[in-house]
Amino acid sequence: MYNQKVLDAFANPKNVGVIENADGEGTVGNATCGDIMKITLKIVDDVIVDAKFQTFGCAAAIATSSTATQMVIGMTVEEALKVTNAKVVEELEGLPPQKIHCSVLAEEAIKKAIEDYRGKKNNTPVDKSKVDFV
Ligand code: FES
Repeated sequence: MYNQKVLDAFANPKNVGVIENADGEGTVGNATCGDIMKITLKIVDDVIVDAKFQTFGCAAAIATSSTATQMVIGMTVEEALKVTNAKVVEELEGLPPQKIHCSVLAEEAIKKAIEDYRGKKNNTPVDKSKVDFV
């Protein structure tokens, strides 16, 4: 079902955990299966210097979270906003069609964490207790 790259990312995920005092935090859920993903970002001068994730979900969700966090570290927030689920799937060399929806969590959690970062800068932080289902 999964290619070797996805299996490796699932078996040895990178950036698992939570950044304390993160500059941006986003939690989203998948409306189809109910799985949840939280991404925290450390951002210095609009550059993402660290990213971590916690995913309560399937192998595809864990593999895409790990890959997405690796992709955005070193990017500006503007660049990270352009990391779509399709780009994460491409980086993983594909997912089974029925698992594509799982990759949407990573894109949306990063976007929400950046929204939180920007909100904090403008004194309008997002409500972290609210999980957006996508
Ligand atoms: Fe829920 Fe994959 S089945 S995220």
